[in-house]
Amino acid sequence: MASQRWAQSVARRLLKGVPVHHGYAHSSRVAGFARQIAIGERFNREETRQLLIAAWLHDVGRSKDTKRHALISAEIVHDLLNKEGEGKEAKQNIVSAIYSHSRLERASTELGCALKDADMLDGFGQIVLEREITSKHPGTVFDQLWESIKSYKLPDEMRKGVKELLESLRTPLGWYGLLTTRTARSIGITPYAELKGYEVILKDLLAGKPPPKAIVVTE
Ligand SMILES: [Fe+2]
Ligand SMILES: [Fe+2]
Repeated sequence: MASQRWAQSVARRLLKGVPVHHGYAHSSRVAGFARQIAIGERFNREETRQLLIAAWLHDVGRSKDTKRHALISAEIVHDLLNKEGEGKEAKQNIVSAIYSHSRLERASTELGCALKDADMLDGFGQIVLEREITSKHPGTVFDQLWESIKSYKLPDEMRKGVKELLESLRTPLGWYGLLTTRTARSIGITPYAELKGYEVILKDLLAGKPPPKAIVVTE
């Protein structure tokens, strides 16, 4: 029977080289959210084990293909679980949750819903700014953007990047309404509000508006 520890070590191995926004660190955070959801939704031991394995391994197919990664991850995990001698029912639960994690429609199982929620929770708050920026502008503009947000001044050369960033925040901002578990909605509300706040600031920066008094950052 596969363990959460085993899944973590497989994730570390298979996610090596996957860009940071969907690599090992992302899976590690998703596993953390999954654990909180399992507690909040009163999953039993076995359901929790299955959910955590799915969380660690849900993106392992990313290195092969981004668009079809859910299907590829499901296939890889299916084979790995076979080798681990995982039971038929648990294997089916884990693999189907992974297969459905990146679809827009609601997952058909409780495990699938919990995995989707855990994955989407990693799309709110400051972390998603980092994920979006590092995926599109590796290693460069995050500090500069932070300076702009603090000083409320946007250099001309950053306007294009900020427009792109706003565009890419649209999808994660739509995720809050798609969360299905009560626990995920309560974990997500604060970082979601934080991300909404960044959206307002970025729009204001582009429009050249002066900073509202409440968010002036002083050092
Ligand atoms: Fe994914
Ligand atoms: Fe993911």
